[in-house]
Amino acid sequence: MREVRGRVYIVGAGPGDPELITIKGLKALKEADCVLYDFLSNSQLLDHAKDVCEKICVGKADGLHLREQDEINSLLYEKSREHKITVRLKGGDPFIFSRGHEEAVYLKSKGVAVDVIPGITSAIAGPEYYGIPLTIKNRISSVAIITGRKKDINAPIEAPGCGTLVYLMAVANISNVVKALWESGRSDETPCAFIERATRKDSRIVYATVGSVEEEAKRAGIKPPAVLVVGEVVDYGKRNV
Ligand SMILES: C[S@@+](CC[C@H](N)C(=O)[O-])C[C@H]1O[C@@H](n2cnc3c(N)ncnc32)[C@H](O)[C@@H]1O
Repeated sequence: MREVRGRVYIVGAGPGDPELITIKGLKALKEADCVLYDFLSNSQLLDHAKDVCEKICVGKADGLHLREQDEINSLLYEKSREHKITVRLKGGDPFIFSRGHEEAVYLKSKGVAVDVIPGITSAIAGPEYYGIPLTIKNRISSVAIITGRKKDINAPIEAPGCGTLVYLMAVANISNVVKALWESGRSDETPCAFIERATRKDSRIVYATVGSVEEEAKRAGIKPPAVLVVGEVVDYGKRNV
């Protein structure tokens, strides 16, 4: 097979609603000869790809990896030498708790042309679809996006002193997230909300407080993917929708 020197687009698919991909991302998808996608990107997006486009699921979602990262990197490189346009489609934004940056660095180190097309992250879209603003003029002036799960399960979870905290990957480790919130001085009454399958048709929200969220999430059977929003903004969202 003749080797081509193709281009790889690392594209944010958006959080779930298939209309939340950018125009630029959609254009790359329509032109792609090969797409490597994760579980988190909406599979309806693949309908935009050409019939002849090679579609490969490299399946990354919470705790389930069909392929290791090294294998994905090598596959991306391989495909960039087979096809003119390869799209790496990643849920949300490709650099937010995703390994889009690592993939871009790897490909560039091998001489591959790479373009990064940002996506709408679930950390922002999830709360916004329920009317929750992450900042409020003259009142809530900072927001942090934090991982609720670390590779070392005993490593402490962060709870910085921002007005709003948004935790991704927090479902399975919710007790340690709550512990971190208490240790940071947040009271039991601090409002919070778990948003499951944000922006999808079957999305739902569970309102709670720091003191009750673990129990409420278990009672409701909240499952990944879900984002946890913590702070006064949750009450603002409730009031304004
Ligand atoms: C590996 S991170 C990827 C984040 C992604 N790059 C983004 O910007 O949204 C996976 C976590 O993102 C969050 N997530 C992604 N899509 C979501 C959705 N539709 N609804 C709720 N949470 C979501 C969940 O916390 C999930 O465990």
